[in-house]
Amino acid sequence: MFWQNAYAGTVIQLPQASTVAPEIDMVADIVFWTSFGFFILIFFGMVYFVAKFHRSRKGRKTEYILGHHGLELAWTIIPLVFMLFIFFWGLYVYQDLRKVPSDAYEVNVVGRQWLWNFEYTNGRKTMNELVVPKNKPVKLIMTSEDVIHSFFVPNFRLKQDVVPGMYTYISFNATMNGEHPIYCAEFCGTGHSDMLGKVVVLDEKDFEDWLITGKYPGQSADQIAQAGAAEQAGAPTQSLAEKGKEVFNAKGCFACHSVDGTAKVGPTLFNSFGRKEELSDGSMIVVDENYIRESIMDPQKKIVKGYPPSMPTFRGLLSDQEINALVAYIKSLK
Ligand code: CUA
Repeated sequence: MFWQNAYAGTVIQLPQASTVAPEIDMVADIVFWTSFGFFILIFFGMVYFVAKFHRSRKGRKTEYILGHHGLELAWTIIPLVFMLFIFFWGLYVYQDLRKVPSDAYEVNVVGRQWLWNFEYTNGRKTMNELVVPKNKPVKLIMTSEDVIHSFFVPNFRLKQDVVPGMYTYISFNATMNGEHPIYCAEFCGTGHSDMLGKVVVLDEKDFEDWLITGKYPGQSADQIAQAGAAEQAGAPTQSLAEKGKEVFNAKGCFACHSVDGTAKVGPTLFNSFGRKEELSDGSMIVVDENYIRESIMDPQKKIVKGYPPSMPTFRGLLSDQEINALVAYIKSLK
């Protein structure tokens, strides 16, 4: 249909490089073109009436109209139906954008002034370069070390704020190989406009190879060295979960939390991710990344029922990377 390619052939068209991009474009284009239609209708209607009913035309007196039910109902109901149509369509696409498939490939994102750090579950780290498989759902678990940033990939029609002290999520399914620019879309200081990166979309097999070797398809060892990415080559020595286990032991978490299912002073972490827990105030929560993070930073806030509020805070004692690693470790306990 005509709106699907409303910008085709012009320099301002962005590639539709994710599964949601065409859906979002269609909603945006429908809103744009209907607004444009009403603009034409109202503008030229106005010009026409100004000419037709100008006061210089003699012999006409303005009618005194008290009301017209039919007309009033029409101009209320028609726009209402139309607005609701746009609202529900937008909601439908938004939900598609927000839902995270359970088999999504997870990547941790940490934003800071003024760069993007990415860390993969196998321990591979990159800076300003997010490598993802094509046609596979990817989930980004994002946080910030300092101020609010906004992770923005125009080619994917994807934007999500990155907030210090909590996790935000976004997921996508990339459909186009190649490089797609990442921008920061929230003013975050003098380097804001330099906070750039790229998403590199590879075929799934090339992506798996890259995860292990750090090599792009067709890239020689020389080229890697030239690109200054030599330290990235080779398999990562420690997965994120293994790093988390180290932190877990170094910080003495094991004193209160078992990893095998036995209850100690605190709840066991075995099989805890995704579990439903009843809190001391009777409410229920699902253990997710944000709950784990909050329980490390602010342990008294949401106590699991039946346990004493005795955990000290680790605020300021753990870096965002260490918390990400702990979360990955807790996820791996099953
Ligand atoms: Cu980070 Cu703007």
